[in-house]
Amino acid sequence: MDYSGKVVVITGASSGIGKESALEFAKLHASVVLVSRDMNKLEEVAKELSKYQTQILVCMCDVSQKDQVNQMNKKVLEKFGTIDVLVNNAGFGIYGNFNDLKVEEIESQMGTNYLGMVYCTKIFLPKMLEQKSGHIVNVASVAASFGIPGMVSYCASKFAMLGFSESLYHELKGSGVGITVVSPIMVRTNFFNHNSFNKMPRYTTALSANTVAKAVVRAASSPRLEIVVPQFVRIAIWFKQTFPYLINPIVGGIFRRSRANQKF
Ligand SMILES: NC(=O)c1ccc[n+]([C@@H]2O[C@H](COP(=O)([O-])OP(=O)(O)OC[C@H]3O[C@@H](n4cnc5c(N)ncnc54)[C@H](OP(=O)(O)O)[C@@H]3O)[C@@H](O)[C@H]2O)c1
Repeated sequence: MDYSGKVVVITGASSGIGKESALEFAKLHASVVLVSRDMNKLEEVAKELSKYQTQILVCMCDVSQKDQVNQMNKKVLEKFGTIDVLVNNAGFGIYGNFNDLKVEEIESQMGTNYLGMVYCTKIFLPKMLEQKSGHIVNVASVAASFGIPGMVSYCASKFAMLGFSESLYHELKGSGVGITVVSPIMVRTNFFNHNSFNKMPRYTTALSANTVAKAVVRAASSPRLEIVVPQFVRIAIWFKQTFPYLINPIVGGIFRRSRANQKF
């Protein structure tokens, strides 16, 4: 797909997968809109992108706040008059047993990971439908398909994102607008800098943010509902969905054992 001059809005572009996705789209000469809550970090990313000689717009916006999302939409349409790709990537997780989480921590994960994606999609979709083209990429997780102990509210937000996307995928058929979910396993990013992850068992397999960013670029022109990264993990999801009574206890057992072996 030729992204030259296409307008790509990326939420959570100040770090990790979002930042790497911005770099990948800029290399393809897309016009990139960088969205996050931290203007300084966004400006640093914009500086890195400037070597690709493409148009960049920096928008400070907390996606969990509807009014800020509305302002961001206005800025994008004022500057470019259009949107071709929306990457709903902003998100975070808090590790801990449900019983120990504050209600506010659960609300904030849902507010950013799920509702933030809903607000951005709601505000940009009409333009895409009007022009009969565009693509929404939702960065979910393999945690959208497996309930992981210690990640109750994070998993709920990602299951919600996948369910939302599946419904919208069917609604959008024939409209010219597509939607694809990117579901990675663990990725080496600042995601795990949240203090709560000090208590999480360390798993050795982790992807680079750039590997996921390349999948995000592929997703932006894909007819598929979901791209799992790496691809072979789709087999595990298929097994879980096909034989839930067999696989759920095995998965639960693996996570329980690794948590029991963890020295806090
Ligand atoms: N790392 C993993 O193992 C992993 C695995 C599967 C899926 N994911 C998903 O990948 C996405 C990106 O995470 P990452 O791993 O790249 O983590 P990261 O490096 O911590 O990046 C998260 C990004 O989200 C932004 N953000 C957080 N809350 C926001 C809000 N309310 N409004 C706007 N921006 C917000 C952050 O920017 P500011 O702080 O500057 O606002 C940052 O740019 C998340 O949705 C995450 O759930 C991550």
